[in-house]
Amino acid sequence: MKLDEALQISLHSINREINNIVRQDKDVPRSSLLAESISGLIASGGKRLRPLMVVVGSRFGPSPDQRKIWRLAAAAEFIHAASLIHDDIIDGSPLRRGKPAMHTTVGVNAAVHIGNYMFARVIELVSAYSAEREKYAYDLTFIAITRLCIGEYQQLSHAFDYGMTVDQYLEKSRNKTSLLMAACLRTGALAAGASGEIAGRLYEFGDKLGLSFQIRDDLLDFTGSEEELGKPAGSDLRNGQVTLPVLYALEDPALAPRIRSIGPDTAPQEIASVVAAIKAGDAPERTEAFSRRLLNEARGIAAELSGFPAQRDLLTLLEYFGGRGR
Ligand code: FPP
Ligand code: MG
Repeated sequence: MKLDEALQISLHSINREINNIVRQDKDVPRSSLLAESISGLIASGGKRLRPLMVVVGSRFGPSPDQRKIWRLAAAAEFIHAASLIHDDIIDGSPLRRGKPAMHTTVGVNAAVHIGNYMFARVIELVSAYSAEREKYAYDLTFIAITRLCIGEYQQLSHAFDYGMTVDQYLEKSRNKTSLLMAACLRTGALAAGASGEIAGRLYEFGDKLGLSFQIRDDLLDFTGSEEELGKPAGSDLRNGQVTLPVLYALEDPALAPRIRSIGPDTAPQEIASVVAAIKAGDAPERTEAFSRRLLNEARGIAAELSGFPAQRDLLTLLEYFGGRGR
C-alpha cells in the first residue's frame, strides 16, 4: 500500500493546493514558462513525504483548520521541490526521478529563477500566518530554508574532505534533510493547536526519522543498482561526498589510502573498484546499524505518544522509512 493511502491522506487535495500556489499568483500567467514549468514539475510525481508529515503533525492538535493545513503542506512541498531544482544544477544531474531535471528542460538560468520564485512564493504565502505571530510559520520558512542552504554549503565545503568527522557528517545531513521533515511535523502540530511539548516531541521524531532516511540514502549509493538509483552506483564518492559508509571504510588501514586518493580526476574504473572494496567490508553493515538505531530512537518517541490516535500514523511512517531509501 502507498504511504498516502496507509495514512488516509488525499494526494489529490495536496496536489491541488500545490498547484494553487502558482495559480493564485495573479502576476504569473498560466501559459507562461514559469507557471507551466512548475505545473510540469508537480505533475512529474513524488511521494509528497513532507506534506504528508504536515498533515500527520496536525492530527496531534485539537483544532486542525483543514484549509490552513493543506496550505502549509503545499508550502512544504514547494520548499522541497525548489531545493531539488537548485540541487540538480549544483550536482550537474541531468535527470530527476528518471525524467529530465528542470535545468535540462529550460536551461540553468531559467531554472535558477524558477527555484528562486518558488522559495519567494512560499515565504509570501506563509507570511500570512507569520502576521498572526504564529511561530510555526517561521519554522517552515526561515529556519528550514536557511538550514537547507547551510547544509548544502557544508556539503560543498567538505567535498573530497577525508578528514571530515562523523559529527560533521551528521550535522550536514540534519541540515540538508531531517530538519525540514522535523519542521513539517511540528508545523502541522502547532497549526492545529497542539502544545509546544507535543510539537517538540514530533520535531525530535522527524529529526531522527529524517536522519535515518538520509543515512540509508547514502548507503544506497553503494548497495543500490544503477536502475534503482537512476544514476551509477558510487556517484556520491565520484562527486566528493564523504558519507557515513566512507567514514567507516576510512577506518580500514588497507583501504584508507585508496579512498583518500580519490579526487575530481580519478578514473571511473578506480572509483568502481573502491566502491566494490567498500561494499565488501563492514562499512555497509555498520551504516545500516546506525540508521536502525535512529529508527529505534524514533520508535521510542512514538511509544510515548500512545495517548493520541495519530500515534498509528507515526508507526506507519516508521514502517515506511524502515523499508526503503529516498
Ligand atoms: C538532495 O541532496 C538535496 C537536498 C536535500 C537539499 C538541497 C538544498 C539546496 C540546494 C539549497 C537551495 C536553497 C536555496 C534557497 C537556493 P542529494 O544530492 O544528496 O540527493 P539526490 O540524490 O536526490 O539529488
Ligand atoms: Mg543531488
